[in-house]
Amino acid sequence: MYPESLEFLTCPRHPEARLALDAEARYAADGAILRGRVRCTACGSRYPIHDGILDLLGPLALPNSLTQMTNALSLTAWGYERLWRGRALTLLAGESLGYARELPLITGLAAPDRGGLFIDVACSSGLWARAIERARRGVVGHALGIDHSLPMLRQARRFALASGLRISYVRAKAQALPVRSGSAAGLTMGGSLNEIGDANTALTELRRALAPGGRCVMMGLVQATTTPGRTLQNVLRVGGVAFWPLSELNRRLAVAELRLRAQWQYGVVVFSLLIESSTAAGRTDEHVPRCDHE
Ligand SMILES: C[S@@+](CC[C@H](N)C(=O)[O-])C[C@H]1O[C@@H](n2cnc3c(N)ncnc32)[C@H](O)[C@@H]1O
Repeated sequence: MYPESLEFLTCPRHPEARLALDAEARYAADGAILRGRVRCTACGSRYPIHDGILDLLGPLALPNSLTQMTNALSLTAWGYERLWRGRALTLLAGESLGYARELPLITGLAAPDRGGLFIDVACSSGLWARAIERARRGVVGHALGIDHSLPMLRQARRFALASGLRISYVRAKAQALPVRSGSAAGLTMGGSLNEIGDANTALTELRRALAPGGRCVMMGLVQATTTPGRTLQNVLRVGGVAFWPLSELNRRLAVAELRLRAQWQYGVVVFSLLIESSTAAGRTDEHVPRCDHE
């Protein structure tokens, strides 16, 4: 994690209480905080930083499902992008949906060159966080990746460092985002809502974190309409993955007060652009980039 993330980070138990860095922290040459501890300014809880990653969960935070357990394995973290991620959307969508289409789509929608804090929630090894940081094009702000799997975050940090990207990684739950309310100009969540556990609380947290006029870009899988697709999804359900019909996904987004601005569907893969709508800034008819399948 980098010192500039401390401007936004808060205690998972006290979402408005800042985290103070202990004086004896150790830094890397690029300014990353490699080792040390932060302390909640409200309750005094201390959280460790190891190998550049802030861990707000500790060793007792266990996965809630078989799928979450799989994502907590080092082997999964190693192979996720190397073996699976680049092919995943094409296989799921039933049409060519590689990085060349996917990444410009999400960066175009999130528009990180607006500046400010961008959080990739349940980021795995940080594919979207890296795309967001690259697309920020040096505009003032910071990219933060959050996941509850430490192996995924370690891999994410290695990929970011190898690409020369300054991204802070924090171990936390999507249901208790460790950031100030209204602090995120942009949020992304790619493919994670399906397996996140308590999706309604996670959506409420996304809404809380979003700044006035902020954007949330989400990608997820909806219920299949074909018999083979439904059969496969029924198997995955046993492992803790949920697949709702599109109408149910949109109902949940609305309940969380995330206003749906635009949506694109490729087979079972759905991209949604959601905006914070409580303020005049959120209600303006700002420009939304067109997608190739709009
Ligand atoms: C499908 S992967 C995410 C993919 C990634 N966003 C991408 O686009 O490549 C799901 C990730 O969500 C994380 N995850 C699942 N439930 C979570 C939760 N409740 N809080 C934080 N992370 C969670 C898993 O550890 C896993 O890394």
